[in-house]
Amino acid sequence: MCGIIGYIGDKKASEVLINGLSHLEYRGYDSSGVALSYKGEVEIYKAQGKLINLIEILKTKEDICSKSHLGIGHIRWATHGLPTTLNAHPHTCNCKSLTLVHNGIIENYQELKEELKSKGCTFVSQTDTEVAAHLIAQEYGKTKDLLCAMQNAVKKIKGAFAFCAIHKNEPDKIVVAKRNAPLVIGLGDGENFIASDIPAIIEYTKKAIYLSDYQVGVVTKNDVKIYDKDDKLIQNKVENLPFEAIAISKMGYKHFMLKEINEQSDVVRNVLSSKLVSSSENVVLNEFKLSKEKIKKITRVQIIACGTSLHAGLVGKYIIEQLAKIPVDVEASSEYIYRDTIADENTLVIGISQSGETADTITAIKQAKEKGSHIVIITNRADSTMARLADSLLPVNAGIEVSVAATKSYMAQLMSLYLLSFYLSEQKEIKEYSSIIKNLKQELIELPNKIELITQNPQNIQKIAKKYSSYKDFIFIARGINYPSALEGALKLKEISYINATGYCAGELKHGPIAMLDENMPVLAVLNTGIVYDKVLSNCEEARARQAKLIGVTNHIAEKDKGLFDDLIIIPQISDMASPALNIVVLQMLAYYIAEYLGKDVDQPRNLAKSVTVE
Ligand code: F6R
Repeated sequence: MCGIIGYIGDKKASEVLINGLSHLEYRGYDSSGVALSYKGEVEIYKAQGKLINLIEILKTKEDICSKSHLGIGHIRWATHGLPTTLNAHPHTCNCKSLTLVHNGIIENYQELKEELKSKGCTFVSQTDTEVAAHLIAQEYGKTKDLLCAMQNAVKKIKGAFAFCAIHKNEPDKIVVAKRNAPLVIGLGDGENFIASDIPAIIEYTKKAIYLSDYQVGVVTKNDVKIYDKDDKLIQNKVENLPFEAIAISKMGYKHFMLKEINEQSDVVRNVLSSKLVSSSENVVLNEFKLSKEKIKKITRVQIIACGTSLHAGLVGKYIIEQLAKIPVDVEASSEYIYRDTIADENTLVIGISQSGETADTITAIKQAKEKGSHIVIITNRADSTMARLADSLLPVNAGIEVSVAATKSYMAQLMSLYLLSFYLSEQKEIKEYSSIIKNLKQELIELPNKIELITQNPQNIQKIAKKYSSYKDFIFIARGINYPSALEGALKLKEISYINATGYCAGELKHGPIAMLDENMPVLAVLNTGIVYDKVLSNCEEARARQAKLIGVTNHIAEKDKGLFDDLIIIPQISDMASPALNIVVLQMLAYYIAEYLGKDVDQPRNLAKSVTVE
């Protein structure tokens, strides 16, 4: 993970770097650092912990901060070495002439380190990055040219990297390189920017060049030159950036997570717009590139994803199997990749990812692609690595999601999966489901208003959150299509409040987890009217009999059953098949308010990062 930034121009480099890093905090926040260059001298400042610690240090360095107009910066999610100041980037070589920031993992760093040590390099940190700093510096010793040094060094490095390097002898440039880690160069007028992601630079420019793997670039104030893997000068396309700066503002909300939960009604409207026009018309999904004939030949679907996206995939399994009658396997990407997965040209492989940069999912997708499967990517980032691997790209356009805990991107993924399952069913001309699909379409059209009924009336959820915020453990249960809601609700709670929360399919409770139940273990049950309603109700009885506190999230509860629950959260009327999209809003809000009562750092939970670019 980690975020990198670079600036060259007339502005104060420190301000651009810090501002940029603040928008990359979602990528990690263990430590941060900047290198500021002025007339060939480079000063490095680093701090352990949140970016604010670095900001405090820079406040005392007014002199260099006001003079420097070229710099590089980094925000770290520790992989090699503890999150200490020593391990924070930038890193340098022994003579401190070369300074480097890095995002990624250098796989052969041990081997390179030994070689460099034998040549006299001494290492001060435990990071893999320091190896690259020494290596590039060694190459500089031979070539006396930063571009050539970088080109030679990257040929010796195995693994993933986005690099920004500066050298005291060439104080008018930043040299960059990329392989399997994102890097974008923002183009300004008499200034240029480098970043791991667009939010870091969107305030300054709307034009950018994306570097591709194996490319190396030289960025000066007025120019950007890109070289391919054979060191040949090439021209990359200049692209218009998709976001507005406003998209990364909290807009008055206390946390990005709360803002993003509240945006979900609009996200649904967005995803459905122009694709689902009315309940009686077929879905328009021009992004799906398989012909009708090929769709009819699909024998299986494999959904690969991680974390929250994996839970969206599990909902996808229920609806695709039910409506399109194709067997669906859902697997964590990290499990998919280390076995000989059975996939062929009649397998539809769906990769789901908010960031489009998750390393495990990228590897899994590449593996499936080699087997000739058609690759569908459902991602919030149409500019991502995964998007570029897609045969069919279904961008979900949830807007930029800043909070580390995914909320609105999950909602957008659900909507895409509903659309896809309708589309597959319609293309396969499965007439027996057309009335179910018609009703479901109508429900999705009405969904935004129902989401707003929940988000605009948080009082009951807030009260329940307060009541349960002191518990140390939680169990979430549900069945059928809401089983993924239980998993996702538990994930949301544990990641932002650090309460030990586990999701189970309710029927499994009696096969072991029930041993955990007593008055200290609240059980949250999601029960929606439908085929499994009575079954979940019985599972609630079993929990109650063990004195567990019971919270019910439901669209309906009979008067006679109300007494079973300590607390109830009633959602608007909705069918079982559409209900995951409403239930999850409640569970996100519950997790949010519990974490908020506990005073947790909701948007940046410990140990996490939003874009997980390491396997
Ligand atoms: C949880 C969360 C993570 C991500 C997971 C995959 O709130 O955000 O579990 O869902 O790291 O990330 P993407 O979707 O970017 O592939």
